[in-house]
Amino acid sequence: MKKNVIFWVGVKNDHYAEKYGGWEWMDISRKTWEYWCEKHDVIFFPMEKPIKDDLVKYRINWQKSIYCFDLLDEAGIDYDQIFLVDASCMAKWDMSNVFELTDHKFTAWRETDNLNWVYDSVKGYEDFFSYKLDIQKYFSSGVIIFNKSHRDIFLEFKDLYLNNVDRFVELQDKIVHKGTEQTPLNYWLQKNKVKMNLDLPFTYKLTHIHRKEMFGNNWQLKEDDTPYFIKYGKNWVFNGISKNQRTEVMSQVWGLVKHNYIKNQNINLLLDSINEDKHTNPTTTSNKFKSDVWEFFQGYDDKICVEFGTHKGQTTKVLSYCFKHVYTININLESFAAAKMLNVGIENITYVPFNLYSDRDLNVEKSNVFMIDAGHKYPEVIHDINRCIKMSADGDCYIIFDDYGLFPDLKQCIDEYVDIGKLKVLKKIGQLKGTYYPTTQNKVLKDYEGIICQSV
Ligand SMILES: C[S@@+](CC[C@H](N)C(=O)[O-])C[C@H]1O[C@@H](n2cnc3c(N)ncnc32)[C@H](O)[C@@H]1O
Repeated sequence: MKKNVIFWVGVKNDHYAEKYGGWEWMDISRKTWEYWCEKHDVIFFPMEKPIKDDLVKYRINWQKSIYCFDLLDEAGIDYDQIFLVDASCMAKWDMSNVFELTDHKFTAWRETDNLNWVYDSVKGYEDFFSYKLDIQKYFSSGVIIFNKSHRDIFLEFKDLYLNNVDRFVELQDKIVHKGTEQTPLNYWLQKNKVKMNLDLPFTYKLTHIHRKEMFGNNWQLKEDDTPYFIKYGKNWVFNGISKNQRTEVMSQVWGLVKHNYIKNQNINLLLDSINEDKHTNPTTTSNKFKSDVWEFFQGYDDKICVEFGTHKGQTTKVLSYCFKHVYTININLESFAAAKMLNVGIENITYVPFNLYSDRDLNVEKSNVFMIDAGHKYPEVIHDINRCIKMSADGDCYIIFDDYGLFPDLKQCIDEYVDIGKLKVLKKIGQLKGTYYPTTQNKVLKDYEGIICQSV
């Protein structure tokens, strides 16, 4: 059965490894496209080796374009549409199925990042093609979609190149100095009157992210630190930056978004994506605490959870994969800005600005699980427990407390509730009694870091 194909170009050439700061960025790109292909039942076809080894005469950009159909035929793939992308692109996890948007035409995106470059390049090849190119339709060849009906035109493009290779190399490297196969492909398709779709949103080819100021966010609102390109882009193209910085930039982006590319989440991957344990950030819970919560609440994914105290949303992230929905409560909006970035793409978290120690009711769904980690003074903890009891839904009500062994007030309060039979201890969790925290106020844990109780 015919399938659509991502034709992904990632040729690691040892000779250029230093110039490109290594090839780790290619591995990152690949993970995003493999995930996207699986999600949309699309074939992932990597081109990892050149067909011709002479990369001066046959640049990879030329090779991908002229040998793409040969490679697919050789592999015996029954293709319909082909999306040609290279390894500087990352597919956003929720990019829609772009094959459905093409009208089955040759689909590309206009090149608008450097118009002077485009003009010079077009002028440079004008005599060779003896054709007046409509520059308004000039597209970038890094991200293009075509289909079986374009096979002949591409094979003829191959002949054109192979019959004129020396002239093309001379124009490319000695005369025009503006690009490789992109401008010739523009000429070839226009001259041959190929019908094009150039009108899809630019977010499917989000190039030169820095020029569009999309690495930033709306810092004036202080609402959400997630960079614009992550929120609004669909296919992020990391070009226009120094080649040797690509690994660094793409690794940072991957660190922010990788939790969205996992089909079956597990706690180790989650902790890795949170990337801070209590030693580096004393305000969050420890990895041990998070792992214990994860383990205890497997099978509770139909329950609602309310978290008191968001901080950077690190425990929130774990809770969001345990429960159907998480309401995380904080007094301080800046906390949400950081938490929203850490948890970008996670849709079952609602951020609720609220002062927990006011007398107002907290207006969220009744819940079965509460995670308490906001105020640590005796009256605040009493207030928290009473609020949980008031807000609890039918069925069992669980309350998870952080800092049980760290703050004497907190421990005293919980112990008293246990003594009078209002709370039952189910499990002590997290770091053990005696653990030394050099950076926290109370230094040594007098009991376990946390405790899971049930309201009786
Ligand atoms: C210890 S941190 C929470 C850490 C978080 N649970 C984690 O594991 O990463 C406490 C949080 O409670 C918030 N907080 C303090 N007082 C509050 C109040 N009255 N109402 C709501 N949030 C409050 C603080 O702004 C802070 O973000």
